[in-house]
Amino acid sequence: MSPWLCLVMVMLAANFRGISPGPACRISEFPCRNGRCVRLNAYCDGTDDCGDVSDEPPFCTVCNRTYYGDVGKTYELKVSKQPDAKYPFLCHLTFTANGQNHGDIIQLIFDEFKIGRYESTALDGCPDGYMQLSELGRPFTGGSWCGAAAGPAAYYSETATVTATVKLFPGGAAAEPVPFAYRLRYRFFARREAVVRFGSPAAPLERGQIAPGTYCTRQFEECYRKPCRLQSPNYPGMYPRNVSCYWSLRQKFVPTCKHAMISVRQEAVHKMQMKRSINLAGLNKTERLLKAWRDCTGERDHLIFYDGGSTNDAVLAKYCGGDWLPRVVSRGPEMLVAFHSSPFSIPLRSPSSQSPLRGFELDVEVVFVDSDSMDFSRHPIDCLFYINATSPDSDEVWTGRGRRGRLSSPKHSLPPNTTCVYRFQGYPEDLVWISFISYSHKALLLEERMGRNDTSSYGCSTRIKIWDGLSVIEDKCDEPPKLCDHSALSNASRTTRPCSKDESYLTIGRNLMIQHYTEDGTALHPASFKLAYEFVDTKLAGEPAGGRCDRVLRRQHVGDVLSPKNVFLFGRGGAKDLDCSYRFEAGRDERVRLTFYNASFGGNPACETVVDAHTGRHSCEFYPGGRVAELSVFELPWEGYPVPKLCLCDNSTLANRPLVFASASRTVELRFTAKDMNVSDDFTVIHFHLLFELVKMDDCSEDRRLGGYGGDVRLDSEASCAGMPWLVEARHNRSLFLLSWGAFLPLKPRIEEAIRCPSSNRILVYSGRPPKLVRVVCPAEPGTRPLAVHVFSDEWWGEPPPRRPPNFLVEWIGAEAGAAAFSWLEISRPRSSLMHQLQVPANASGNDSDAAGGGECAHKCPELDACIGAELWCDGKDHCPSGYDEAEANCGAAAKLLNALPLGAAAAAAGAAVACCAVCGAVCAVARRSRARHRRRMAKKKLLAGPKLLDGLDS
Ligand SMILES: *[C@@H]1O[C@H](CO)[C@@H](O)[C@H](O)[C@H]1NC(C)=O
Ligand SMILES: *[C@@H]1O[C@H](CO)[C@@H](O)[C@H](O)[C@H]1NC(C)=O
Ligand SMILES: *[C@@H]1O[C@H](CO)[C@@H](O)[C@H](O)[C@H]1NC(C)=O
Ligand SMILES: *[C@@H]1O[C@H](CO)[C@@H](O)[C@H](O)[C@H]1NC(C)=O
Repeated sequence: MSPWLCLVMVMLAANFRGISPGPACRISEFPCRNGRCVRLNAYCDGTDDCGDVSDEPPFCTVCNRTYYGDVGKTYELKVSKQPDAKYPFLCHLTFTANGQNHGDIIQLIFDEFKIGRYESTALDGCPDGYMQLSELGRPFTGGSWCGAAAGPAAYYSETATVTATVKLFPGGAAAEPVPFAYRLRYRFFARREAVVRFGSPAAPLERGQIAPGTYCTRQFEECYRKPCRLQSPNYPGMYPRNVSCYWSLRQKFVPTCKHAMISVRQEAVHKMQMKRSINLAGLNKTERLLKAWRDCTGERDHLIFYDGGSTNDAVLAKYCGGDWLPRVVSRGPEMLVAFHSSPFSIPLRSPSSQSPLRGFELDVEVVFVDSDSMDFSRHPIDCLFYINATSPDSDEVWTGRGRRGRLSSPKHSLPPNTTCVYRFQGYPEDLVWISFISYSHKALLLEERMGRNDTSSYGCSTRIKIWDGLSVIEDKCDEPPKLCDHSALSNASRTTRPCSKDESYLTIGRNLMIQHYTEDGTALHPASFKLAYEFVDTKLAGEPAGGRCDRVLRRQHVGDVLSPKNVFLFGRGGAKDLDCSYRFEAGRDERVRLTFYNASFGGNPACETVVDAHTGRHSCEFYPGGRVAELSVFELPWEGYPVPKLCLCDNSTLANRPLVFASASRTVELRFTAKDMNVSDDFTVIHFHLLFELVKMDDCSEDRRLGGYGGDVRLDSEASCAGMPWLVEARHNRSLFLLSWGAFLPLKPRIEEAIRCPSSNRILVYSGRPPKLVRVVCPAEPGTRPLAVHVFSDEWWGEPPPRRPPNFLVEWIGAEAGAAAFSWLEISRPRSSLMHQLQVPANASGNDSDAAGGGECAHKCPELDACIGAELWCDGKDHCPSGYDEAEANCGAAAKLLNALPLGAAAAAAGAAVACCAVCGAVCAVARRSRARHRRRMAKKKLLAGPKLLDGLDS
């Protein structure tokens, strides 16, 4: 026990002995000899309070006495040193709160305080004398106050008894009297009144469990359910000198899948009054700066925050002044906070009379984060995070997990000289794309503002360095990296515009590393960031074929084809339109078979996949004004002539079962298109998946690419040619004429219109490059003259001539047995007709004889007003629809006519029949009947013509 406490005991005993038996004065009163009771502090105050001067005996002193009092009253006391008093002068003042009306704790307010000199730099800071305070039941700390206080300073006892001891030393050789003035007020408080310290009775504050034998070491547990407060000893008054407190904070209960961290802070100025406020002269006064680390020189009062339960753990912050404390957060569920006050000081003036607080109170909070998150470093020393991409081919890619996310710098404080490393590891064809949503670092330290003498090797308070593989792509010292801060506004229901190249970082390799360095630690030099990352899968099926995502698959026999997952091809990566083509090339005697498993065209496709009434194929029907997003399949029987075969554009067609497409030709092209994408569109909503296979099938042996002056084609096929169209091409400057039998149908019929055709067979006529459907014919018996239908190539009607010679591509949909045929002619306009068409008078121009493909021609089908090739004239086959080219009058010989009727020869079919009807009905009728019989036999044999489009795998 300290000598002062012994003394207090002795004095208490003495006081009781001194009370005379007279009338019952209360313990807080001085019993006058005359029986009156006056306040205890009336004794020796220089006034005759008793009336019999019994409270003012000669040579009295206020020292070495114990004072009691009543709650709600304020008492004053002044110690004066008699000039003749001996040195060392020693005076003990003991105050006891005696419970109930006499209070539980004591407040001392030093209104006047002057005891010698205070020498802050000397080993003994109080050379002339000092005041010490000791409390009954607490170890004696030995710290002292001296010097002259600038204003009233408040002290609140922790226990019920406090003794103030004043000691003055003799004034040295010069014998200057030691400056001395000492006046104080004191009050007694009931515990329930002390709400600043204890909280209200309804909401008491958790101040921790004091460790026995210590002045102020306390333990705090489970602060997540009560408001824990770290209070400086004797809070809210001035704290003792030369005191060391260890506050250990521990969270034992941690919910599953959570990780606990302890946070300590104080933002309120009035609750953060440490020894000395900072002189902000010359600095922006609205900024609140702190003293810490290297600033905490000598014997300053300071707080040390340990990242764990012991002083061996890393130091997060050493703090020694400032009017607030930024958040200090431990990495794990334990934190140790050490407080130490210097042995000597001047009593610190309370900041104002309104807030007589001194000392500090820190708020404790338990922070829970997900245990699998990157909000904390798993390792106590290395701050290392791996962000490993999940496989781009796993199902997870559709939900985005493992390939894309956000991450923030650790939510806990980092010790000084820490580098946090983030390693992003992608799959072989991945790129890493990161964009900083926020980045902040803030110098809070006074020293940093006042200019520093740099000793660190980096020379940066914070530094961010980004590596693409082995090369550095960014290195910023105390400056932010490229920011994409508008993305901070995006959330689940709102996507902001994509981050551009200037706002983000994209690697050229699969790995990226970020190093984030903090010199002073993030507790007192907060540095944090939030970023979005994405592993960009650049993998594409097959080999490159020109465009960004045009591919060709030619050597593989079977394989999956997935749409691209490269975000930069989509709206979310900044693209407007997506346009990718896949070309599948089969070898000799092979065909392409595609099985579509799924396809999606964004949130709300403005299109419906419908079954075309003519062909039974899936086609796309866009709503007016709807944006285009489709997956379309073309066959390329010849290069440059993609024939549309299939189109998908809604999200439901493949919902229940896959769709199989088998090609008739060896080359198939798939086009995946999405126009006007919005900023949220990406491969999770716009995608497809198909399987492609090359299947064995004999090549079509017929040459169906036709050229020359004209010809006739019968529309049925060898099985190996089923689905292969015919291509008719004119030479330059010529036009094409096509003749067939049946009736034109609307290109896009409603069901009723399609039903008007008795047959489900169709002749489809395309024109141009790429081929565009121009006519659909419901076929009739070839040669049925009233049912003859004519198709001219566009330029015949005065359309601007195409860059290339005109062509017709004719496709036969042979859904059922039935005959059909067409003939074609390369034609040109006679001069007169051309003039007429150009609206030039026939005799206006000179006699250049070969204008635009023909003068007045020698060989002309009058009914078409078209010239045809001389080679066709009287070649034994009708070419003009009327058969004029083979007419008796033109060719003259009946033998020729007979030659023109090769019975059973398919090639001669239709045109000849018409011609012969025109010339001699009788012969013809016989021939026709016999040909019809023949055709029916043939048709039965080759029922299957046209493309196979099988709905479903099972068929
Ligand atoms: C108070 O008591 C101490 C001894 O306990 C004595 O040395 C000192 O002189 C006393 N002070 C006064 C002013 O009487
Ligand atoms: C002082 O700092 C505050 C907050 O940092 C700032 O808003 C203000 O503009 C600064 N004033 C001057 C004069 O620098
Ligand atoms: C990521 O990969 C590294 C090695 O490349 C490995 O050490 C680490 O455990 C992996 N992390 C995760 C979360 O898979
Ligand atoms: C910072 O850390 C590095 C390596 O961890 C060490 O070499 C260096 O000495 C440290 N610097 C300071 C100032 O502590």
